[in-house]
Amino acid sequence: MGDKTKKMYEIKASFSDDVSELERKNRQLARRIATEAIVLLKNDGTLPLSEDVTKIALYGNGARRTIYGGNGSGEVNSREQISIEDGLLQHGVSITTNPWLDRYEQQWLRGKEEYLADGREKIKKFNTHILAELIASEYQYPYGDEITEDDLIESDTNTCLYVISRQSGEGRDRTLDAGDYKLTNVEIENLKKCATCYEKCILVINIGSSMDMSEIEKISGVNAIVYMSLLGMESGNALADVLFGNQTPSGHLTTTWAIAYEDYPGSDNFGSWASDINSVCYTEEGQVGYRYFDSKNIPVQYPFGYGLSYTSFETIVLEYGLKTDTFWLKVKVKNVGKQFSGKEVLGVYVGKKHRWNHEEPSKILVGFGKTDLLNPGEETDVFFDIPLERMSVFDESTNLTKICEGEYNIYMGADVSACQFVGTFQIETEQVIIRHDEERKKEWNQNHNEEIERMIETLSAKELIELCVGNGLLSDGKGFQVPGAVGCTSTKFLKRGIRNILMCDGPAGVRLQRRSTISKSGKIKPLDFPLSFYELLPGVIAKLRLGNEKKDQVIYQFVTGFPVANAVAQTWNKALCQDMGIAVGKEMEKYGVTLWLAPAINIIRNPLCGRNYEYFSEDPVLTGDMATGIVKGVQTTSGRGVTIKHFACNNQETNRYYMSSNMSEKTLREIYLKPFEIVVKNSTPAALMTAYNKVNGVYAAENVHLLNEVLKKEWNYQGLVMTDWLSVGEDRADEAKSIHAGVDLIMPGSKKNKKKLYQEYKEGFIQIDDLQRAARNVLTVIKGAI
Ligand code: BGC
Repeated sequence: MGDKTKKMYEIKASFSDDVSELERKNRQLARRIATEAIVLLKNDGTLPLSEDVTKIALYGNGARRTIYGGNGSGEVNSREQISIEDGLLQHGVSITTNPWLDRYEQQWLRGKEEYLADGREKIKKFNTHILAELIASEYQYPYGDEITEDDLIESDTNTCLYVISRQSGEGRDRTLDAGDYKLTNVEIENLKKCATCYEKCILVINIGSSMDMSEIEKISGVNAIVYMSLLGMESGNALADVLFGNQTPSGHLTTTWAIAYEDYPGSDNFGSWASDINSVCYTEEGQVGYRYFDSKNIPVQYPFGYGLSYTSFETIVLEYGLKTDTFWLKVKVKNVGKQFSGKEVLGVYVGKKHRWNHEEPSKILVGFGKTDLLNPGEETDVFFDIPLERMSVFDESTNLTKICEGEYNIYMGADVSACQFVGTFQIETEQVIIRHDEERKKEWNQNHNEEIERMIETLSAKELIELCVGNGLLSDGKGFQVPGAVGCTSTKFLKRGIRNILMCDGPAGVRLQRRSTISKSGKIKPLDFPLSFYELLPGVIAKLRLGNEKKDQVIYQFVTGFPVANAVAQTWNKALCQDMGIAVGKEMEKYGVTLWLAPAINIIRNPLCGRNYEYFSEDPVLTGDMATGIVKGVQTTSGRGVTIKHFACNNQETNRYYMSSNMSEKTLREIYLKPFEIVVKNSTPAALMTAYNKVNGVYAAENVHLLNEVLKKEWNYQGLVMTDWLSVGEDRADEAKSIHAGVDLIMPGSKKNKKKLYQEYKEGFIQIDDLQRAARNVLTVIKGAI
């Protein structure tokens, strides 16, 4: 808990903009993850392109204006970002469609001007609702204009790349409209022209979630389709690596791409389609994604786990068997291709041989792995030892989690619809794993530390409240400072040796301010706009909020822009997750960030959720295991912690502050809480963030069942529980109810929150023990911070 006030005022940002060794190394890692994340959806042999391809006709809205990540808290400000055009140029290819790309740029700039003019009008009537609306309604990129005869002739090549990009982000769900989930007419016509006029037509999808493919399917002559997702700062380079075969694609989808949006279970009970937008019933219950499509044999566009390679593999299960708590498999994988090295993803699925009813999934993913790079002809053995617990179900009638007796089928392969049947094993008698009624009766014993206990004894109710409510979104300029941090704890205790700790967003890296100024008195101001909406601020205000590099010292923080979580998950590579976590932890250390507000492990329930790119997948095991790797990686650097979020059921952005996600306890536990359970039980996440929404009618932050009964008593979670930003207060969750339910830190926190909590304390709505418990957790993280 640092004892020298002077040390607390330290700023770790660099005074030089030189590329550090860490930045260079992490950037290489970002490129490695990005290439492994790319999913090849279709290929008639056109890919990889030979090095003889020296000219490419490049079109589409993401060609030059590639989308690197999401909008809002998921944005990451890296030193530079490589667009698809840049990546191809750096690969040594000439782009022969500059007239089209330049026209697009003009259209983009005009659109941006109009957007800014409109936004500046709106911001004049400044209030928090308008601000939230503006943050959620970023400038939407145009789709480009028609490809003309001249464009085609001038391009003078037989190879074309058409990039379809879509933005999405916080506070807004995607729409089914042309231009978002669907293609616009211009895009359809352009693609048709490309498919007809070029011998090789490659479509690149640069979106953080799936899209409607029906129109594309109708166009003959599209030779290859690459789903690149949002790949961070190395986007263009990673794509070029895969297009030219420097890397063999090994990414696999983590969601099901349905033929039509309406095919998704529960698609009419999502966002603004819900019959009551305040109370969204998950009518599909546990039949999320492939659990529904596969069980019901509903044809899909691309199944969960799908992904092509440039080579092919032979996978043979050599042996398998049952132990007391696990079942194991020994698998031989051989690269049987002749030309390309590659990595193979293996999924292990199990399903009941005789299902009780149609609601029971035919298969569920219980484990997965990925081989190292195998050269042509090379083989390797992969061993799986999978806890039987992964097949457990929650029985609502008895309140037990159990493994049912019966015969189970085992399947091997990544693609859920094409995995091979391996054999069966028998569970002779039902095994009870958790007796939830008993767990609930248990006391949750909080870890105690003598130094902290002594400190707590000296704190009055007001002081405890000061610790349990954050220090605001904008730094008060005191204590430890990290430009770009979105929150910190109180700076009121600095003199007593209690430092403030800083939190920064993720998940695609550590979101920090790239360049700032620091005045002689220590005042820090950003040099670039911290969030895109700053562009809308009237010139004078924007200027006031920005630093002056002529007057003050410039400080730099360059971090790595990694692929978004959904892309990272597409690698199916747990070791890479751990490496990414380690890289993030090192950057946090370098700049003095204590808590990273990531990973976000909500389940992708519907393709239109605006934050799908921040989430991993539609499957709890894939999500939980990949996120565990990241958590372990980050926390190998001492004093750095993750914040798993958003607990729980933040599966849409529409009406996110007020809606309730409603489902049975079975669905909640088997699908939506499962990734959190996996992460909490397999790593020790330093912090957890509650969701904005309600779960079954109770705000996540006030939810005694979720926080106290499940998280703390059942899973014995000892870390810090914080709220999502501005989710407590006024017409949202109540301060005292939240702290009582298990929240330790209200973020970002305001004077109003403190006042209300103190009032509630005086009126007896919250007891001192709850405040002490919360302060204890806050102090524990502070104590560990370096
Ligand atoms: C988001 C969180 C984020 C927080 C701080 C909220 O709006 O939902 O995911 O960590 O802001 O930026």
